[in-house]
Amino acid sequence: MEIFEHDLLIVGGGAAGLRAAIAAREHVDDVGIISKVNVLRSHSVTAQGGISAPLGNTGEGVDDSWRVHFEDTVRGGDGLVDHDACEILTKGASGTVLELDNMGVPFNRTEDGRLDQRPFGGHSLPRSLYAADRTGHGITYALYGENVRLDNAVYNEFFLLDLVADGARVNGLTAYNMKSGEVVGFRGKSVVLATGGCTQAFAHTTSGAASTGDGLGIAMRNGIPLEDMEFIQFHPTGLPGSGILISEAARGEGGYLINDDGERFMKRYDPEKMELSSRDRVVRGMQREIERGKGIDGEDYLHLDLTHLSRRTLEEKLPTISQIAEDFAKVDPSERPIPVRPTAHYCMGGIPVTLNGRVKGSSWGNTWDNLFAAGEAACLSVHGANRLGTNSLLEAVVFGKRIGAVAGRTAEEGSFGKLPRETLNQQEKYLTELREKDGTVRLGEIKSRLRELTWNKCGVFRNQSDLEEANDEIYELRRTFSEELTLDDRGCKFNTELRSALELRNLLEFVPAVLLGAYKRTESRGAHYREDYPEKDDGNWAVHSYVVRTNEGRYGVDYRPVRNDTGRGTTDEGGE
Ligand code: FUM
Repeated sequence: MEIFEHDLLIVGGGAAGLRAAIAAREHVDDVGIISKVNVLRSHSVTAQGGISAPLGNTGEGVDDSWRVHFEDTVRGGDGLVDHDACEILTKGASGTVLELDNMGVPFNRTEDGRLDQRPFGGHSLPRSLYAADRTGHGITYALYGENVRLDNAVYNEFFLLDLVADGARVNGLTAYNMKSGEVVGFRGKSVVLATGGCTQAFAHTTSGAASTGDGLGIAMRNGIPLEDMEFIQFHPTGLPGSGILISEAARGEGGYLINDDGERFMKRYDPEKMELSSRDRVVRGMQREIERGKGIDGEDYLHLDLTHLSRRTLEEKLPTISQIAEDFAKVDPSERPIPVRPTAHYCMGGIPVTLNGRVKGSSWGNTWDNLFAAGEAACLSVHGANRLGTNSLLEAVVFGKRIGAVAGRTAEEGSFGKLPRETLNQQEKYLTELREKDGTVRLGEIKSRLRELTWNKCGVFRNQSDLEEANDEIYELRRTFSEELTLDDRGCKFNTELRSALELRNLLEFVPAVLLGAYKRTESRGAHYREDYPEKDDGNWAVHSYVVRTNEGRYGVDYRPVRNDTGRGTTDEGGE
């Protein structure tokens, strides 16, 4: 069993992980990136609409600043944004996107050569820089290019199995090398979890198949709480069936949402902002229309109409979604509207971290020495209860850079710890047992039941009885997985069924945190809407939730206040 060694280990090769790896090189020479997919297939590649920065580039009268961006983000987050984190995000935005421009991201430009910016929901000014509608693709490739230039080591198709820890210190990790079929170890002086999102937990999602919350599952198994997991963002416009994203940029460029009567129904739900209202409002408006029978032909989808946009706009600014509409919905968007429906898109919650990305060991704030988290896997509380579109790529790069630098410095000052062979043997034993599972229930059935459960009982609209049922059913699914699962593929090498089983294990580990958080939060705020508690309740609920798993495999929840004391100067480089 092989053991690799790098000063800094970064798990995940999306925008956050790649940006962290670049920043870390200011402190250490030896960085290893471990990814369960080829890094150029990380989900960041699929981000379409843009990345926000308050450049104010689009002409006369557009007077943007970090403070306006901050205020929009705080307003969008509906009372749960930690102001110090948001200040770092918005102050860092302009410099960070200019760095991306210098790295070669092919951002669209205005006629006079400036970086173009387009409107997005919840932003009071056109603020989204974009590379047509493949912004994530441009950013991920540019960041990857930098990593190649720096000669950072990349381990593609290594699946993270567990952390190897000694108290609050992490010595490394174990992984399944999919190509060789072996369990391997990685020793590092510090570790960053940048394992991405988790919305594959829902039946309808814009997320790629790999977004299974592996870092979240591993955090739970290691006694780390998960923060604000009830806040799952549903995106208004995914394709029915596949869930593939049709970017909000289409509405930013002037697209309309219409119901079966051909009516722009958003006038009923937000007459001022219409289709560019915040995502939670648009999604609820769409669901209401579907429920009152105004879905197209009475079905559970609506139409996104782009037929009035110019061919030039479609070709230069929305080429990818035009192609997706043709390939997957058989619709030419210049001639016919695109069918769309709400889909799970993003998790505002995640592994709780300090402003420097250091993982919190508990809700009251004690931290790990050298374990960090970044990107969608982490919860910095910059998005609060509802993220604004284009702020996630921004978070990935602004905090990826910051966290990578601190993790690199921690590694520079640290030393290697022990990675006992015994931990590898234990993982090998677990993989063998899993591969040989010989029950009566197939993996796909458990996964489908899980995804339907979350969608039907913890989706856009939630209520007590559904959530009570869901909180019971999830334990039954966990039992089914451990006692009744059967796998067909008993091989070791490139066993994709085994990989799916490991992913499902992680899904089943963190989904109880989503369900419990949603059940306990008896109010409506941002993306969390309780039909039985439709009002926001700041008196009781302006707090972050922290769900932790006990040794008995049950889950408990605790709450901590929001840090909303703007301008208290907590954002210095050294501040945690
Ligand atoms: O619609 C979109 O392009 C999504 C952007 C985002 O979630 O940031």
